[in-house]
Amino acid sequence: MKLLLFGAPGSGKGTQAEFLKARYGIPQISTGDILRAERRAGTELGRRAQEYMDKGLLVPDEIMIGIIRKRLREPDCERGFMFDGFPRTVPQAEALDAILAEMGRRFDRVLYLKAPPEELVARLAGRLTCPACGRTYHPVFNPPAAGNKCLLDGTELVQRTDDTEEVARERVNVYLTETLPVLDFYRARGLVTEIDAMASIEDVRTQIERAVEERAA
Ligand code: AP5
Repeated sequence: MKLLLFGAPGSGKGTQAEFLKARYGIPQISTGDILRAERRAGTELGRRAQEYMDKGLLVPDEIMIGIIRKRLREPDCERGFMFDGFPRTVPQAEALDAILAEMGRRFDRVLYLKAPPEELVARLAGRLTCPACGRTYHPVFNPPAAGNKCLLDGTELVQRTDDTEEVARERVNVYLTETLPVLDFYRARGLVTEIDAMASIEDVRTQIERAVEERAA
């Protein structure tokens, strides 16, 4: 299964990726997670990315495309993959298309998690993240264990540095201007299924499952 989770910051891509990884046995390729791991490791790439991430801006295309080209050659991608957070610009989509074509592969489905922009900032500014496993929570929409601990591993949750209200607003603006046009790229290829991302987490999961299974049938 080769899937792309597409949607604004806060639309629920990471939340649903958790379930999809287990359900279909495919790796999640989250460029945000890759960049945060580079930051934690203190690499040159991580330092460069931090300047953009902390302002809510996109990291330059050539850096991101290089990361993806390398990641797709790793053995766990042989059975399939699920992209989350890439592509985020039309040049990234075009480059990914060319890389996949070279490998004789293509997406089975693009799942567009549609949510009104004004709802997203509240989700992002309230999000809590587990620094150990990356799972995300929200005090109202997806509560963690008592004392703000991860339900899976008991680690104390943290707030991402780009989850302040101001940076979240900027990320949503950047999405609307630079990323939303990517949807037309995939619509032209007949790959997009719209998912109502304002439904409950369980309901979004059901909609995704239905879309993927209709495609596979
Ligand atoms: P990245 O890490 O990709 O962040 P993002 O796209 O901003 O996505 P998020 O992780 O914030 O949102 P999500 O949709 O996964 O939401 P979640 O499921 O957690 O990117 C970070 C930065 O890295 C970028 O700003 C950029 O600088 C850089 N970058 C990354 N990729 C790049 C690229 N390709 N090119 C250039 N730069 C790049 O859910 C959010 C909250 O809502 C949670 O609290 C959750 O519990 C809650 N929630 C989820 N679903 C629901 C629901 N159905 N109902 C109610 N609440 C819900």
